[in-house]
Amino acid sequence: MKIFVLNSARHLLKGTGRLQSSRFSDGEIYVRIIDDVKDERIILLANTNPPAENLLELILALDALRRQNAKVHLIIPYISYARQDRASIEGEAVSAEAMSRMLRQYNPASITVIDAHSGRLKKFLDFNDVSALRLLLSRLRVSERKNMVIAAPDKGAVERAKKASEMLKCSVVLLEKHRPGHDLAKIRAAHGDVKRKNVLIIDDMIDTGGTVIAAAEFLKKAGARDIIVAATHAVLSGDAVKRLDASKIKKVLVTDSLKCNPGRRFRIVKLDKSIREIIGGINGR
Ligand code: R5P
Repeated sequence: MKIFVLNSARHLLKGTGRLQSSRFSDGEIYVRIIDDVKDERIILLANTNPPAENLLELILALDALRRQNAKVHLIIPYISYARQDRASIEGEAVSAEAMSRMLRQYNPASITVIDAHSGRLKKFLDFNDVSALRLLLSRLRVSERKNMVIAAPDKGAVERAKKASEMLKCSVVLLEKHRPGHDLAKIRAAHGDVKRKNVLIIDDMIDTGGTVIAAAEFLKKAGARDIIVAATHAVLSGDAVKRLDASKIKKVLVTDSLKCNPGRRFRIVKLDKSIREIIGGINGR
């Protein structure tokens, strides 16, 4: 089965299928599938971040593949536009639904995502969600696991935090987060004791870094010792890396689902083996 890899995922795996993706002078994207994959099963690997251009590149690749009637198994390690999955005030777009509709219209044979933002995306899109949590946790040192509690920085992180607490056999502290504006995060309260404990903050992604930085500040004030963050996707927009390096967080564990330039506190966990396993599973179907 040929594997086509778009620009956004080339750091993860080398493709075996040939495609051309380039730009016209006005910025429009051009995609051509060079190999003949008529009626074949193929794998298409792509991230959709940064979202505008990579989502569109993916749509164009799906269009080109549909013209050859290829059966596309789509692997999207980081799927963007998954966070706005409901309209909380009147007049808002539900981008998770709009993005899902775009993908669905190409009727992929399967879609696999790594740690999708939330299960609510399944309302709009049928996909397999592969968890990188065990892999991330396996990179904690024995000394770091001692006297540890897990913190969920918001309601959305509770399920993951609970899974992590089962794996590491420790308790969970729930933080109350609110967003006073786009890309801003404040922690109001913590439910659970963190005094003199090492705290592992679990989240699906670090975007601006606002959530985990605010959580770390709150936890430190509440008496926590070392703060470590484990998150699957390093979106790291704006000056997130600089802010994280200057924060109270001792170590940031993230996967390489997205290509990033990590700061000095980062440890990158490679996903190549997980991606190969996903491909192996699709091959075996
Ligand atoms: C929110 O619901 C997500 O799970 C993350 O907590 C959030 O998207 C991280 O964004 P930021 O780093 O910008 O606070």
